Amino acid sequence: MSGPIKIALPKGRLGESVYAMFEAAGYGCPDAAEDSRKLFFESADARVRYFWAKPADTAVYVERGAADIGIAGKDILLEHSPDVYELLDLGVGRCRMAAAAKKNFEDYGTGPLRVATKYANIAREYYGGRGREIDIIKLGGSIELAPIVGLSDVIVDIVETGRTLIENGMEPIQVITDISARLIANKVSYRFRHAEITQLCERLTAV
Ligand code: PRP
Repeated sequence: MSGPIKIALPKGRLGESVYAMFEAAGYGCPDAAEDSRKLFFESADARVRYFWAKPADTAVYVERGAADIGIAGKDILLEHSPDVYELLDLGVGRCRMAAAAKKNFEDYGTGPLRVATKYANIAREYYGGRGREIDIIKLGGSIELAPIVGLSDVIVDIVETGRTLIENGMEPIQVITDISARLIANKVSYRFRHAEITQLCERLTAV
């Protein structure tokens, strides 16, 4: 394997702060700061090539080898279990996966609990582990709306500052797991570009 190391970055604020880490580690690109719609850019010495992908999609690029390495949230890794190596916890994008409900909600256990979420597998595993039967209602976003309008009893979703819950009269019931951004690698790339990827990890760890 040769050519630049291909890196899938999550588009948005998290990706920008992660890119700043790569830059500080010595993997900067001259055209990265340009305000453009271009979805990829390469370092001057052609050592690395970055792509901007949807945050939920970076692991797909890495798993299938379109990118050698990438950044994915632990939420995505838990939900989709892509066949990749998880190399580093980058310590950014910290938040929690939590079950939450309207204030004073009580689960009387009569019938399946209606759970609205983007994270059906995480929710299934969590409630399965507690022996609670559930009815998953899969939504694409604004999950907090579901209990308010009576679509669900509870939600399983990301909580960062907690503001969305508070402003909508909700509260966390239980934190399921801590989340942060992870550096992941394609399994074949990791084997054949081991020295380059290891060096990159070491430099990132140092910053
Ligand atoms: C996420 C998450 C919550 C919110 C939590 O939504 O799904 O809705 O952020 O943040 P907070 O605890 O700081 O209020 P996002 O903004 O990604 O959009 P989405 O609702 O479309 O998923």
